[in-house]
Amino acid sequence: MASRFPTRGGVIVTGAAQGIGRRLALMLAAEGVDVCIADWNDEGGRAVVAENPDGAGRMIFVRTDVSDEASCANAVGEAEAAFGGVFGVVNNASIFSTLQMRPFWEIPTEEWDRVQNVNLKGVFNMSRAALPALRNSGAGSIVNIASSTLLFGRQNYAHYVSSKAGVMGLSRAMARELGGFNIRVNTLTPGPTFTEIERKTVTPEQREAMIRQQCLERAGAPDDIAAPIIFLLSSEARWITGQLLNVDGGMVMH
Ligand SMILES: NC(=O)c1ccc[n+]([C@@H]2O[C@H](COP(=O)([O-])OP(=O)(O)OC[C@H]3O[C@@H](n4cnc5c(N)ncnc54)[C@H](O)[C@@H]3O)[C@@H](O)[C@H]2O)c1
Repeated sequence: MASRFPTRGGVIVTGAAQGIGRRLALMLAAEGVDVCIADWNDEGGRAVVAENPDGAGRMIFVRTDVSDEASCANAVGEAEAAFGGVFGVVNNASIFSTLQMRPFWEIPTEEWDRVQNVNLKGVFNMSRAALPALRNSGAGSIVNIASSTLLFGRQNYAHYVSSKAGVMGLSRAMARELGGFNIRVNTLTPGPTFTEIERKTVTPEQREAMIRQQCLERAGAPDDIAAPIIFLLSSEARWITGQLLNVDGGMVMH
């Protein structure tokens, strides 16, 4: 069977030092895709590279702060140098698992700014830095990871929810502007997904209550999210752009 990915170039996955991004990086590499992990967590990023088995796609880690333009440009340069190009970007980095839940009027302004700078401006920075490489690839794909919370307006996360709504708007605008270069841009909204990272903000009772709201009655796992991201990156999704794919076991029907 012909590969569903180009033979030249690789994919940049931001925020892949842990959680959903980590599984995505490993699953892409298992399919023979070269992956650049762009994360600010040195130790975690290097540990994922060490997990990648021999015979899989190549994997590099580049310490990156997506809220910083120069840092994103550096990651793209390293990926191009290592893999001979970049045909895909997954903007997955986010201030998420470390966020405290609180009503919007109690969110410190500094925290509001930090969340927008990473979660929304980070997508802008990395997409813009990777644009020349994506154009060169001839068929680029950007997958922006938002959150199903933007569809139902989750309480006590106003900065997070609004940053993710911004990601959806940015994705749609970019899809319109980049179609002429044969670059696709899609948004994927995960629902509650339980990774190896303990979530102090979610009690076992809340977790069960979330599962009861889904059609499929089990907890979402990183692989459940990574698989449709890989589909959106691949040539199988060649006619899909500007769309929002909600992946949450049927909690929200969008
Ligand atoms: N897990 C869930 O339940 C869930 C639900 C909806 C959406 N999401 C979204 O899915 C994505 C992955 O979620 P997760 O659970 O793996 O999150 P996570 O918090 O476990 O991991 C986020 C990663 O982003 C990295 N990161 C944070 N700031 C960064 C920066 N400035 N520059 C570079 N890297 C940075 C962190 O180091 C970490 O490796 C996120 O965008 C999140 O908002 C997750």
